[in-house]
This record gives sequence, structure tokens and C-alpha cells, in this order.
Amino acid sequence: MIHPATPPLTLLCTLDDLPEGSSKGFGSDNVFAVNYGGKIYVYRNHCPHLGIQLEWAANQFLDNSGSMIQCANHGALFVINSGQCVSGPCTGQSLHAIPHQIINDSIWITAS
Ligand code: FES
Repeated sequence: MIHPATPPLTLLCTLDDLPEGSSKGFGSDNVFAVNYGGKIYVYRNHCPHLGIQLEWAANQFLDNSGSMIQCANHGALFVINSGQCVSGPCTGQSLHAIPHQIINDSIWITAS
């Protein structure tokens, strides 16, 4: 769905679809979102190590503690609120943050 506001925005999901402490992938846009600490973060689903998707299982982007983004391929760990890799083969590199807005309890990104 495209929001009528400009610039064009693309709907990811409602906030109800992304509860606190969860993550969700959106394959058609190649992005994923995380709800952590009451804030929403959206990143491109592209690990800086090999340039491939981070998850092996649907919507599983967090480590066992739920406090870090984890790449399932080689275990790289990323800080949720910055996207910076702090452990693994791409330490010091970062995920690509996607600008987003919360409108009417839904998460929207700039249409690509
Ligand atoms: S592809 Fe992500 S850590 Fe290797």
C-alpha cells in the first residue's frame, strides 16, 4: 500500500504486528524491522560481511538474548539502535538504516 503523503511511503506493518522485543522481515522490500525498548528500527536485510540476508528462519533477526541483531550465517552481532557490528567477521561495519515513519500506528518506509 502506498500512502498518499509525499514522498511516497510504503506500508510495512502495523505496530500490533511487531510487538516489543520482536523482529519481522519484509521480503518484498528486502528490509527488516525490530521493536526494541519502545522504539522501531528498520534496516536493509543485507549483512555487510557477504551481502546476503541475515536470517535463516522467518522473522528471526535477534540473538537468543533478544538484545542484539544477529546474522545467522556467521554469527555477526549488531547493536539494535545503531546497526553497528560489534562481533564477528564484519566488526566495525554497519547495517544500512532505512528511514521510516510511524503514521496511524503503522510503520512506513520511503518507497524505493
Ligand atoms: S554473512 Fe553475515 S556474518 Fe557472514
